[in-house]
Amino acid sequence: MAKYTMEKYLTDIDKKGLKKTWRSILSNTLNNKFESDIFIPDNYGELYEIGLEHINKINKKEMGKYYTPKDVALLMSRWLEPLEGINVCDVGCGAGNLILAYLELIGNKKAYTLINNGNVYLYDMDEIALEICKYTIAIKYGKELLKKINAKHCDFLSKKIKLPKDSKTISNPPYYKIMNIGEDWKVTKVVQDSKELYSCFIEKIITQSNRSVIITPYSFIGSGKFYSLRQVMNKYNGFVVSFDNVPGNIFNGRKHGIFNSNKGNSVRAAITVVENKNDIKGFRFSPLIRFKTEEREKMMDNRYLESLINDRYQLVDSKKKSFYKCHKELLNVLDKWEAVSDKRMGNLIDSSKGEKIVIPTTCRYFTVGSKKDLNRDGKRTIFVKDRNIYNYVYCMLNSSLAYWYWRLYDGGINCQLTIINSIPVFYNKLTEEQKEDLNKIAEEMKNNESKYLTYKMNAGKKQENIKFPSEYRNKINEIFLKALGINENASIFNRVHSSSLFVESEEYDDEY
Ligand SMILES: C[S@@+](CC[C@H](N)C(=O)[O-])C[C@H]1O[C@@H](n2cnc3c(N)ncnc32)[C@H](O)[C@@H]1O
Repeated sequence: MAKYTMEKYLTDIDKKGLKKTWRSILSNTLNNKFESDIFIPDNYGELYEIGLEHINKINKKEMGKYYTPKDVALLMSRWLEPLEGINVCDVGCGAGNLILAYLELIGNKKAYTLINNGNVYLYDMDEIALEICKYTIAIKYGKELLKKINAKHCDFLSKKIKLPKDSKTISNPPYYKIMNIGEDWKVTKVVQDSKELYSCFIEKIITQSNRSVIITPYSFIGSGKFYSLRQVMNKYNGFVVSFDNVPGNIFNGRKHGIFNSNKGNSVRAAITVVENKNDIKGFRFSPLIRFKTEEREKMMDNRYLESLINDRYQLVDSKKKSFYKCHKELLNVLDKWEAVSDKRMGNLIDSSKGEKIVIPTTCRYFTVGSKKDLNRDGKRTIFVKDRNIYNYVYCMLNSSLAYWYWRLYDGGINCQLTIINSIPVFYNKLTEEQKEDLNKIAEEMKNNESKYLTYKMNAGKKQENIKFPSEYRNKINEIFLKALGINENASIFNRVHSSSLFVESEEYDDEY
């Protein structure tokens, strides 16, 4: 038997099309009539993507961008395993990264019984990917099982599709904006408000499945258009672990990557684990986890990640519409900060009158407020009328508090004005001495701004920013902590700025 090669694969696609090519690869493999070094089940997902690219169905740059890497699939499977549910579903299964990791985790014997009892359910709109998934399971666990796998070629959001009773679900849904609402969808508030496919998948999964583990973009945690999804989440319980995408990135973890690798920036992801324990409502949250690529292996540990999550089950309501991603060591600081504050930053600033403060919009490792009009593209200008309050606002923006607040409630690419406006402020609670100390620091910083200018090229343009020595920030933090009645050293905030997960005071690089 001649070995099947990549050349043959591509010629077959040209001659017979992708569907027929895969049908024959799969059935020949299942019937032991196939020999190849690279066309083995572990590589099917990537080989299928190469096939799609060959027929120009997907853009090379986009290839496999959000397919679940093996280590993440295993992490999710480990969370799914102890959850209750007789039927196991993979929604948007694609070529099967998630369900295959789960079956491997539970071991041959349990996997065989699960499939043989008709308890595995797969859903995907892509007929070929679904077929690959189904056949891979049969190739691995026994060809007699092929008919026992419930593979549903469908639009998962169609009303006709219902998850089976007593099920648990693993999923990496598609991340697209909804252009047209499907005619046979249940048009919920989540569909109408978010117009994002992934949040509609989350809603349907959590309302129809007993328990679930779902990886998606993290934007549903804080962003306004997902408030209705968060309201739905109020009825369930579990935890959410969210990951930053710089320096390390969850979706850049291809293990084999023999055919291509995936280096582009990708979404900030969150893994939601719906546990539905008795008598609890709400979700617990990890901080926005930032890790270095070399820390990935150590981080991908379920117990370790769970140890980062604070104990508070969060619910949303009209007064508190967003979830926040807080380090457990800082929860007390956040509570005191909220309790002591009597106003929001928006009450202290003006959009046109007073003295200006310039704020660069991108803030990877810290926020900046400057008197100097920075020579850069992304910036906001705010105004403050009163000199003392000006210095307080200036100090807030250059402290850890403003940056941390942004990380708590957003942490994406840009610091939105709505976030700045909602920062809790406590000027009225400062002693005269604290106000004077802040005045002195602010005056010194303002005089020295031009000493600490830094530049970064972005889109062919030099972007100006200020990188103050961290001593300034620490001094301001100390005053603020004291004013909040917190007996901690400013180093408590190091973890918020660090570019490393395991080294708290790791200096960030110059990328911001
Ligand atoms: C992000 S991929 C995940 C694939 C795989 N589960 C993984 O984790 O690597 C999303 C999958 O959802 C499928 N999909 C997209 N829209 C869908 C829909 N409306 N109904 C069912 N599946 C859909 C895509 O074909 C794709 O396989």
